[in-house]
Amino acid sequence: MPRATKVRPTLSPIHLLTEDPLSACTWAIGKPQPVIESLANQEMIVGDVLDVGCGCGENTLLLASRGHMVWGIDHDQALIRIAREQAQKQTLEATFVVGNALELDVLGEGFHTVIDSGLFHSLNDKERKKYLSGLSHVMFPGSRLYILCLSENDEISSPDLHPLSRKELEKYFQSGWQIEKIEASLYSLCDQTAPAWLVSILKI
Ligand SMILES: C[S@@+](CC[C@H](N)C(=O)[O-])C[C@H]1O[C@@H](n2cnc3c(N)ncnc32)[C@H](O)[C@@H]1O
Repeated sequence: MPRATKVRPTLSPIHLLTEDPLSACTWAIGKPQPVIESLANQEMIVGDVLDVGCGCGENTLLLASRGHMVWGIDHDQALIRIAREQAQKQTLEATFVVGNALELDVLGEGFHTVIDSGLFHSLNDKERKKYLSGLSHVMFPGSRLYILCLSENDEISSPDLHPLSRKELEKYFQSGWQIEKIEASLYSLCDQTAPAWLVSILKI
């Protein structure tokens, strides 16, 4: 009887591609998120800006190009390296920090506007509470937070994603915050757009 042979898996191109930090990032669309660009075009982003979970810095650099003093923070060192290289290439000034969104109080800076494009839906309930507590330390009364997050209508399923309902969003901002608007929106990915919420929140 022939014996079963164990076949050693060969290294597929997918494995080789993971050398490129952006290869697995379906959100890295090579340009700013259209929704963030639209906010900037309407001059709804004011003053000094913090871009939390900035990834490779597309949104951060857009805001730098519009004259904002802007910081981007992300815990992924490789993405921050790409963001810094892009800033240099485009001769734009932005501060990119490797850091944890759950420990924002260590930044010791105050920002008039905070952008969260694609981070909130990747945090779980406990992490979101910690994140919002840290955010309070880097915002003033009257500072504005924009969140662009996947909505519960989204068909994209992954254990790392926690899309939100309107009710859930409201629950997170009951105290110390004032929700100005929650509107149905879209988050652009490389090969599709996903249903999302654009939320505008004032710190009070
Ligand atoms: C979906 S990507 C969005 C990137 C960028 N904001 C955009 O819209 O193109 C989410 C980003 O959040 C970052 N991130 C996730 N958890 C984080 C944490 N605890 N602290 C800092 N960054 C985090 C990821 O590394 C990733 O770059």
